[in-house]
Amino acid sequence: MIDEKDRIHRSHYAYQIDTSLVGKMVSIAGWVEEIRDIGKLVFLLIRDVSGIVQTVVTGKHLEALKDLTRHSIITISGTIQIGKAKDFDVEIKVDQIEIISRAIQPLPLDPANRIESSLDKRIDSRALDLRNPRICEIFRLKSSVTHVVRSVLQSERFIEVLTPKIIGSASEGGANLFSVNYFDTKAFLAQSPQLYKEQLILAMDRVFEIAPYFRAEKSHTVRHLSEFVSIDIEAAFLDSKDVMDLAEKVLLTVLDRLIVTLEEGGSVSLNKESIAELRKPSIERYSYKHCVDILNHEGEQIEYGDDFSDSSLRKLGQIYKGFYFITEWPLKLKPFYIHEKMGEPFLSESFDLQFGYLELISGGRRHHDSRKLRQRIIDQGLDPSRFEDHLRVFEWGMPPHSGWGLGLDRLMMVLTNAQNIREVVLYPRDTQRLHP
Ligand code: 4AD
Ligand code: MG
Repeated sequence: MIDEKDRIHRSHYAYQIDTSLVGKMVSIAGWVEEIRDIGKLVFLLIRDVSGIVQTVVTGKHLEALKDLTRHSIITISGTIQIGKAKDFDVEIKVDQIEIISRAIQPLPLDPANRIESSLDKRIDSRALDLRNPRICEIFRLKSSVTHVVRSVLQSERFIEVLTPKIIGSASEGGANLFSVNYFDTKAFLAQSPQLYKEQLILAMDRVFEIAPYFRAEKSHTVRHLSEFVSIDIEAAFLDSKDVMDLAEKVLLTVLDRLIVTLEEGGSVSLNKESIAELRKPSIERYSYKHCVDILNHEGEQIEYGDDFSDSSLRKLGQIYKGFYFITEWPLKLKPFYIHEKMGEPFLSESFDLQFGYLELISGGRRHHDSRKLRQRIIDQGLDPSRFEDHLRVFEWGMPPHSGWGLGLDRLMMVLTNAQNIREVVLYPRDTQRLHP
């Protein structure tokens, strides 16, 4: 028997209500998705985070429904009975009903999507937007993906760390830093954990961090945000190829787990066939030079040494549709910390992982020699005095090391087939948006 005074606890989630409970008393809590008034009785469809339940309200309980609006929060106790509706095997015959929190009318959007809203409008009311189960599912999935990534990295002896997000000087060079007032001085928001993660491997050997980073990018595209989450790793005594192998292992494990979830009927926002199609036995690796040759063959005009323009990447994405690595980039296109390729000083031991046109990962081997690192900072026109805290660490016995950064939000775009990164970020930040 349900305690009559207990207004906020439930005995069951919606997904647990099934024929095995016929004749039993249960209590559920959720929001009103639909009110079907057919005169002497009213069918209330109650949704919670796990699913939807049909309830039948009759007699004296109808009184409680007078001012009821869709999306109000409600608790219901009643007995489970076999239903007649084709969508529900069972329903709850209501015995006790309590409207806990009334939703205003009209709401800024309809999460059940009877009236379609633009992405902008949905993000304006994101908390409500998430009552659409297909949208909520994206973020449940994001949570599972980070869980899988963590477990793979931990099983490879990586230690999870958190490095500062408020920093005193640029972590990568470049101008895309946000500055903030920090007491009597100026500080910046971290654009990457790059320098800290390299320092940490001095003692910790292998580290990873999953955290937000900040880039003052003026570009307004479907794949850039001012705040994004990166999965960053760094490992001592591994080279570029080793960390590419690890990236491959992480990605293929994520895909394998998703395939299992889908086989178990797990997710509404994913298409099993499209995920299975992404899962190849391994990920192809093409050199930068190979990609330039292919693109020139296709009519793009690229000089050896040029970076790929958006249109070149799109063309490459049409040729190589799934995941692939681009390796051995010209050294001059890469940040100061990237190591040159042995025996080929104009090339680097670096890579990007692409999905079609979309860059998901950048990584490579780093310099561990402090003199060479200092020289590279100077060569790139940066002021080495701003990197003294970092450079001194390299005089304490720095092992050779490699690592990468994987954009989690971009990975989620690929996994959910989203065309805009804002679909897979709860509260996106870009040049136009700082609220909610
Ligand atoms: O390519 P990026 O800038 O590389 C680094 O930050 C290096 N420190 C990583 C390393 O270990 N060498 O960023 C890494 C990834 C990109 O490939 C992309 O997936 C994502 O982070 N990313 C962004 N995602 C959304 N919005 C932005 N503005 C992003 N900038 C980078
Ligand atoms: Mg990059």
